[in-house]
Amino acid sequence: MSNQWKAVCSVADIPVLGARVVKRATQPDVAIFRNSEDAVFALLDRCPHRGGPLSQGIVFGERVACPLHNWSIELGSGCAVAPDEGCTQKFSVKVEDGQVYLDVAELNATVDEAA
Ligand code: FES
Repeated sequence: MSNQWKAVCSVADIPVLGARVVKRATQPDVAIFRNSEDAVFALLDRCPHRGGPLSQGIVFGERVACPLHNWSIELGSGCAVAPDEGCTQKFSVKVEDGQVYLDVAELNATVDEAA
């Protein structure tokens, strides 16, 4: 991991129990989630099932329910909760003074490099 961080928004910019999307030029977007305890998580905005937009889902606890077929995805790992299977890419995220930072190298990596 690079230790180079990019400020993407403040925690207050993310709706509680919702998400905000960070656009990338050539890669799928990154979804940044905030739960009721103000914990912040970042995942690729693509459900491991059929690519649904996780950023449109509802956060509960440390999971998000995919809006398409209601799979539950663990926000900390990006993995589907059993009996469903599969994981989406997770991103390193850091919160400092209410600012949310993502790892620059992960943001710029192509899907293959990050896998
Ligand atoms: S695409 Fe997410 S549950 Fe089907």
